[in-house]
Amino acid sequence: MNILSIETSCDDTAAAVVGEGPKILASFRSSQIPIHRRYGGVVPELASRKHLENIIPVIIYTLQKAANSSSKNLKELAGKIDAVAVTTRPGLLGSLLVGVNTAKTLSWLLDKPIIPVDHIKAHIFANFLENPNGGECHSESPGVSGRRRIPMGSFATLRMTIKFPAMALVVSGGHTELIFMKNLDGFDLVGGTRDDAAGEALDKVAKLLGFDYPGGPDIERCAKKGKKNINFPTAMAGNKSFDFSFSGLKTSALYFLRKNPKTNRFDLCASFQDAVIKSLLLKSVQAVKKYNPKSFLLAGGVIANQAIIETFKNYFSKNFPDTVLYFPQKEFCTDNAAMVGVVAYYDFLKNRRKKWYDVDVEV
Ligand code: KG4
Ligand code: ZN
Repeated sequence: MNILSIETSCDDTAAAVVGEGPKILASFRSSQIPIHRRYGGVVPELASRKHLENIIPVIIYTLQKAANSSSKNLKELAGKIDAVAVTTRPGLLGSLLVGVNTAKTLSWLLDKPIIPVDHIKAHIFANFLENPNGGECHSESPGVSGRRRIPMGSFATLRMTIKFPAMALVVSGGHTELIFMKNLDGFDLVGGTRDDAAGEALDKVAKLLGFDYPGGPDIERCAKKGKKNINFPTAMAGNKSFDFSFSGLKTSALYFLRKNPKTNRFDLCASFQDAVIKSLLLKSVQAVKKYNPKSFLLAGGVIANQAIIETFKNYFSKNFPDTVLYFPQKEFCTDNAAMVGVVAYYDFLKNRRKKWYDVDVEV
């Protein structure tokens, strides 16, 4: 069984191949960050144009890598693709359209079914990916414009040890959600953000500090050198709901900077990051106490932040010894197509396959 998966929901053009094992034979991502950076955020129109330029070279390159790792030639592997998986929601409309229409075309040409995949579910399923080699492999891809260094998540295998029910915390640029999963398919939204997503708040405060987009990684880097000596509020602390709110915290950082323009930037980053983490932990703890899950799955781009992982690891080992904490390897936290392939792998086994004309962008 081989599944070609495609992800173009925002500003990463990504493809992967899941093969027998199950394992990821190749996973390749072309990031558009250098293009959007000068505008301080993702420009949807530019993103879809770049996806159009990059999607075919990215797919060919990924298939070539997958063919190499399974000792086949490219044509041979292309003939052995059993399904094409693609992110159909949520995301930027123009960006999704490129991936979905490419997948539909391939599905028709290869006469193979399509598996539509939800991006949030894919982030959660990144927890099934185990890559003992880490993301050590960086390479250049001819024909792909955009970023120079491109991480390859090759040879990751799927771990089957995650027990249900599980609670997932998805923290990305567009989402901050707590999702209760009775099983692989049972998704119940337990809480979400009432305003900004955590990643959005991190990116906005980073912008105030003059960092490039996306600023989350810069905040983390500076936070390591600072002290948590500025008191920011923990939003929704006295509230029993599982919802988050980050807009007030962002505004507090803005006012603090206005009042204290000479404040130490490292301390501000350390304190702000800490307030974000406290808020994520607080609602997660409330949710674990109520739902008593066997596993807790961290997911999304912001989980690339080591301070979040360390805080959750410490708290869970001391307070929830019966709930196993999972988090994806760094290369699989931010957008990638391997995670889309994992969802598709399970859906393929359950025969959730569609004809190309029955699949469309769902926004
Ligand atoms: O999941 P993702 O790649 O894209 C969306 O689906 O939104 O998440 C992107 C977000 C951005 O807000 C970015 O600043 C944040 O993830 N991010 C981080 C780190 N790496 C990426 N935030 C904090 N620390 C990091 N190391
Ligand atoms: Zn994402």
